[in-house]
Amino acid sequence: TIWQYQFRIILLGDSTVGKSSLLKRFTDGSFSEVQDPTVGVDFYARVLEVEPGCRIKLQLWDTAGQERFRSITRSYYRNSVGGLLMFDVTNRKSFESVREWLTEVNNHVYPSKTIFVLVGHKSDLTDDRDVSREEAEKLAEALDLNYIETSAKNNTNVDLAFMKLTECIYDS
Ligand code: GTP
Ligand code: MG
Repeated sequence: TIWQYQFRIILLGDSTVGKSSLLKRFTDGSFSEVQDPTVGVDFYARVLEVEPGCRIKLQLWDTAGQERFRSITRSYYRNSVGGLLMFDVTNRKSFESVREWLTEVNNHVYPSKTIFVLVGHKSDLTDDRDVSREEAEKLAEALDLNYIETSAKNNTNVDLAFMKLTECIYDS
């Protein structure tokens, strides 16, 4: 595929929030209930057409959420123009980590111009929900981020999340 621009995108968030699953759904359309924790960093890619005749190649870096890989994943923040900052709507702790992830990036990229979209993931698990949409929207507003809720399992808003981020970067 011919493309005009290339953006480096990073996925951040606590372990098990669903970063790899979202990327698998976005790049090959699959979903698995069993997904191994990422070791270090994985790489995916897809071309998105943001408007007729304007194709953008997304280079997607999938980072490990586990703390022990932090020194590896850190080296990828600074080379990214944008990212999805993810939490799991059924996991309160992952929501509370959102501010820490932003601090982590800001502490290692000088000055950080990384554009993030906040993603509340696993929206299919309505009965186990532990973070309300209102609460998440409030945090997004306080952090000046766009907010979107996704499910890799049901394929809800997956393309839209990447489209939104790509547009934010494209317009910046
Ligand atoms: P690390 O690589 O350790 O940082 O984790 P991760 O953020 O990549 O999470 P991963 O994609 O490995 O998903 C963790 C678990 O959540 C797996 O069992 C997935 O099947 C499950 N999962 C991911 N996305 C969804 C979703 O949209 N809905 C539901 N119900 N489960 C999901
Ligand atoms: Mg992973």
